[in-house]
Amino acid sequence: MEQSPTDPIRPHSAEYFGEQRDYWWNSDFLQLIARRLDFARISIVLDIGCGVGHWGRALSPILPPDARLIGIDREPEWVQGATARAAAAGLASRFSYRQGDCTALPFADGTFDLVTCQTVLIHVADPRAVLAEMLRVTKPGGLVLAVEPNNLANGVLASSIHAALSTDELVDLFRFQLTCERGKQNLGLGFNSVGGLVPGMLASLGAGDIRVCTSDRAAAMFPPFAGPAQQADVLQTLDWAERDFWIWDQRETKSYYLAGDGDPARFEPLWALAMSVNRATADAIRAGTYHSAGGSMSFIISGRKPAAAL
Ligand SMILES: C[S@@+](CC[C@H](N)C(=O)[O-])C[C@H]1O[C@@H](n2cnc3c(N)ncnc32)[C@H](O)[C@@H]1O
Repeated sequence: MEQSPTDPIRPHSAEYFGEQRDYWWNSDFLQLIARRLDFARISIVLDIGCGVGHWGRALSPILPPDARLIGIDREPEWVQGATARAAAAGLASRFSYRQGDCTALPFADGTFDLVTCQTVLIHVADPRAVLAEMLRVTKPGGLVLAVEPNNLANGVLASSIHAALSTDELVDLFRFQLTCERGKQNLGLGFNSVGGLVPGMLASLGAGDIRVCTSDRAAAMFPPFAGPAQQADVLQTLDWAERDFWIWDQRETKSYYLAGDGDPARFEPLWALAMSVNRATADAIRAGTYHSAGGSMSFIISGRKPAAAL
């Protein structure tokens, strides 16, 4: 259903803060990352674009027990949510959250051992400038760590529903997503597949010891959808299908599609195709026939600020 112009505008990324986000990471994989990047030396962390704190929560078991974390987000509602969630998790004495803009970080140069973000650079007009800000507030020798996806890769992942689509339908869906991603970028709202470009940006900013890997969590779904992670995926998929939500709602999708030079006459059929996939997926979940290995291309990109000031 298309939103009416009087529908309230929800805070940024509201559709993406469901329970499903609690299962984005395998904890033993994060422990491996912490060993590789020598997290033992970290005492103060900045999490930019923290949302309600999912990334900070994922990091909490792999940070030294006395390490402190400050999260900032532009949205006051998320700052409140992150603060409440940290308190509920017993982290209030070490994790604090405040409002702030990641394009102009309200901290002095060289303040943090680790400056990090998860799915934030995909939402800013100039991700390289935000990386430069992240490096500015990092201590010499400290670490910048960005988790950013190539979301276009999701468009070519196979599920039991996608496997039944024609070649034309699959290509149409991919082109639809690409057109919308480019439109979002044209509007200055960020590039949803910027992950692939972040290592080069960090290199151009003079960061050293740049390392890149991908998350090992594939988020497979198969009947009977057992366990909390698959159940959270089921709930989100059914909810989005019921509310005709794709990657964005219809109004937002249309604005991106048109800004990406999409043919206006093609929007309705393409939206109908995306919604038919949503509904077919939901029906197959209910019937216990849906399956997919999942998969996403989520890059973990790190670099160190050289000991000599940048
Ligand atoms: C997809 S969410 C990611 C939240 C969190 N990092 C996580 O992974 O759970 C993107 C977040 O970036 C925030 N954001 C977007 N632009 C921002 C900016 N210029 N300054 C600060 N926060 C921003 C949004 O409000 C939103 O909470």
